[in-house]
Amino acid sequence: MIPAIRTLTRMIGIAWVITRHDLLVFLDFPGSDTVSRLLARRSDDRIGTRLSAALVELGPTFIKLGQTLSTRADLVGEQTAADLSELQDSLAPFPGEQAVKIVERELGLPLSQAYHSFDLVPVAAASIAQVHFAVTADGKDVAVKILRPDVERAFHRDLEMLSRLARWVDRLFPSIRRLRLIEVVETLAQSVELEMDLRFEAAAAAEMAENFAGDDTFLIPSVDWSRTARRVLTLERVSGLPVDEVEQMRAKGYNVTRILSHAAQAFFNMVFRDGFFHADLHPGNLFVDQHGRLVAVDFGIMGRVDLETRHFLATMLIGFLNGDFRKVAEIHFQAGYVPAHKSVDAFSQAIRSVAQPILGKPINEISVARLLGQLFEVTETFSMETQPQLLLLQKSMLVAEGIGRRLDPDVNMWELARPLIEKWMRQNLGVKARVKSTVFDIAQTMERLPRLLDMAERSLTDMQSGGLRLHSETVRKALNGDRSGPSLVLALSWLLTAALAAALLLN
Ligand SMILES: Nc1ncnc2c1ncn2[C@@H]1O[C@H](COP(=O)(O)OP(=O)(O)O)[C@@H](O)[C@H]1O
Ligand SMILES: [Mg+2]
Repeated sequence: MIPAIRTLTRMIGIAWVITRHDLLVFLDFPGSDTVSRLLARRSDDRIGTRLSAALVELGPTFIKLGQTLSTRADLVGEQTAADLSELQDSLAPFPGEQAVKIVERELGLPLSQAYHSFDLVPVAAASIAQVHFAVTADGKDVAVKILRPDVERAFHRDLEMLSRLARWVDRLFPSIRRLRLIEVVETLAQSVELEMDLRFEAAAAAEMAENFAGDDTFLIPSVDWSRTARRVLTLERVSGLPVDEVEQMRAKGYNVTRILSHAAQAFFNMVFRDGFFHADLHPGNLFVDQHGRLVAVDFGIMGRVDLETRHFLATMLIGFLNGDFRKVAEIHFQAGYVPAHKSVDAFSQAIRSVAQPILGKPINEISVARLLGQLFEVTETFSMETQPQLLLLQKSMLVAEGIGRRLDPDVNMWELARPLIEKWMRQNLGVKARVKSTVFDIAQTMERLPRLLDMAERSLTDMQSGGLRLHSETVRKALNGDRSGPSLVLALSWLLTAALAAALLLN
């Protein structure tokens, strides 16, 4: 009974904050206008700014929710997504003594056996963890990240409430269904789950360090595994200026344009060479050391892109940079992201409509991330459900561009990366790309069949983690609106027929 009352009170509190920040437009129920007029604080701020303010007021879980929504330009629109990505996650620290207790419990050692010294005052505190500097017993400078006490329980409780709330809102307010809150909350829960086990973060740091071994333009601190556990992560300590401190870098005589070029290269290498990228590279997590080398920290949120998606991305980026919208459209069909019964012409027209205004700007002002964000808005209307990893990548590109612009407003960092992308394309698409330049070639469609089968299976069994899938709407329509557990065989035969028909018709 008591928990029910607590949940109810919390929900009323949430409703109040939402109303006051003038966000009832999202719910759009009869009378919502009047309620807003009476109770909302009027402001000229954009919806994204108002939403950010409300989420900060609602606390850590909601800040995380906002950060998740910031990767969904396809759902909330590109501008709101950009506004939400500014959400900073910082919180009052918990006492250092408590941090020490957690470390001792987790490592199963008295503090003095693990560390020679340990700063009780943290250097940073966020909703999931805080960081203390220390020196290990064998004399190494380290940064120790420690999970907040009881953070698992607090997040689980909030997430459960959020998930219940999402289901209610979805049922009561059809207008908000387009935000797919249930799915967003599920994604949030998954990513928080991973972030709350620091061994995952350690593994990500180690994998990335391996990928960049020998590259002294982009450094990753090494993991001290003997002082790492579920709730404690010990990393080699790094030092440097936050990457947006351009004036200070100049004052120290760093070559800022070279640093930008290294950042673009590192981004390219993460995404295209490795398919494993740091998805939270804001200036709080990216430093420039005294030799002018980039150093990254914080490997809690990472993204992966498989080889096929990298081919897709490279072709699309080059298509955009060359202003070849038809190519950009075709690659979506070729990859099977847009159902084959849609018109390539209409799709390339839609792409042009969002791309040309952006590409018409001077090259240094072109934001490829905005372009992708708007593209995802368009693809949503073409029944394409975007891969979560692509959305995460788009957000990361947005952040990278922000840094790039700070470092050198006259340079477009993707132009810097363009030769690398083109070279990678030549090496990786090579012969196949030259021989088969026609998009809808039967042989190629046959090549795609195993993947189509796989996609169908995935979309039907709803195993969406990280993989591309057909828009559920598309599958349902194809099955004449049969919602009651479509048979796999039916869906497969539809997909095969559609793929072959497309191949024959468009060849
Ligand atoms: N290895 C490190 N060396 C030096 N400082 C670090 C290191 N790791 C983290 N920090 C500092 O602590 C801050 C918070 O750590 P971070 O891993 O980014 O946590 P969060 O996930 O809470 O953002 C960083 O912004 C950085 O200032
Ligand atoms: Mg951080």
